[in-house]
Amino acid sequence: MTVYANSAESSLNWERLLAHRTQNMQSSAIRELLKITQLPDVISFAGGLPAPELFPVREIEEACHYLLREEPMQALQYSTTEGNRPLREFLAESMARYGIQHGPDNIQITTGSQQALDLIGKVFIDPGALIITARPTYLGAIQAWRAYEARFLTVPLDDDGMQVDHLEPIVKKEAPRFIYVLPNFHNPAGTTLPEDRRRYLVDLARKHDLLIIEDDPYGALRFEGEDIIPIAALAPERTIYLGTFSKTLAPGLRIGWIVGPAEIIGRLVQAKQGADLHSSTFDQMIANDIAQRGILRVHIRKIRQVYSERRQVMLDSLEELWPNGCSWTRPQGGLFLWARVPEQINTVDFMKTALEKKVAYVPGSNFFPHGDGGFNAMRLNFSNAQPDMIVEGIRRLGQALREELANRG
Ligand SMILES: Cc1ncc(COP(=O)(O)O)c(C=O)c1O
Repeated sequence: MTVYANSAESSLNWERLLAHRTQNMQSSAIRELLKITQLPDVISFAGGLPAPELFPVREIEEACHYLLREEPMQALQYSTTEGNRPLREFLAESMARYGIQHGPDNIQITTGSQQALDLIGKVFIDPGALIITARPTYLGAIQAWRAYEARFLTVPLDDDGMQVDHLEPIVKKEAPRFIYVLPNFHNPAGTTLPEDRRRYLVDLARKHDLLIIEDDPYGALRFEGEDIIPIAALAPERTIYLGTFSKTLAPGLRIGWIVGPAEIIGRLVQAKQGADLHSSTFDQMIANDIAQRGILRVHIRKIRQVYSERRQVMLDSLEELWPNGCSWTRPQGGLFLWARVPEQINTVDFMKTALEKKVAYVPGSNFFPHGDGGFNAMRLNFSNAQPDMIVEGIRRLGQALREELANRG
């Protein structure tokens, strides 16, 4: 075997070969953070991780045995790009309950919603194309679309999500490719867009002939209040809806889906063919088995209850243990809340102090496409840590905040 020495003469000058678009690519701050936070003694509020102790391991094991015994040739074979038909039928039926009236032919299975975001970039974003998001917004979407050299226009977000009344002047002036919306239990803000804002958005989109991307990984994880009609139900002709099993079943399966007008789905299918031919046949069949046998429904009920308790523990701990001058959102579901600390504390710098106390969060500025806000905010995840760890982590952060404020006089 030849071993190539890493000397100046023999090493490849690879950087000059990189495509132009890689200049916009950055490693996700969260993935980098997760490396630190995976140390065993760190209490992490940083990831968007479901509670691993609740994964339906036995049921998934049974599904694997069943599929390998009864349908091995199908389970281990290549399959269609669109995805497993029975799974798409199940999804069409379950989304119809929320008012989304698309059939299985309007559904494309993806390798997680993250792939859906990437495929949308591939199909809709030319270099320099403008897209509209809230600020803050989901970091993974920024990352996916930066790679296609998108330019971001942003509108502010309040406790009811995207401030849609800021959109019209922007869409009148610019020609955005689409508006990206996280309607339920927003990542990172934990906010939910009320029905009147959804209707306003749809009217605006119709008036200006706009496309809407509705990213909804958390909608099924509502702890309180009533479900709100999805944008895809209000404007099926111009909405691409994204769903995923990552938060309701297990992210390791990497199964998500896209729903939308047939012509757009056709384009996304072509884009996916070039990416990975299809999502794992076996994983799709496992998800289908779990869903069809009613296990998913029971599991969702269980995690809703546990996450709701953890959210309450976090809210109560914040109330009790954080200094004056802090505030936070009170999400009705999902995995995250958004906390604001006094102006003089920069949450990027404060991360070092927090990590010394062995607690982690994600600094707010990571969720701003232009990095121009969120400096005194942080995203806190409440699904992953056990309740006693949540109390302890919030206590440590509260103590660090007090010390920092005292140091600054
Ligand atoms: C808003 C949002 N969209 C998409 C994703 C990607 O999810 P996945 O690829 O695991 O389905 C996430 C994950 O955290 C998310 O929060």
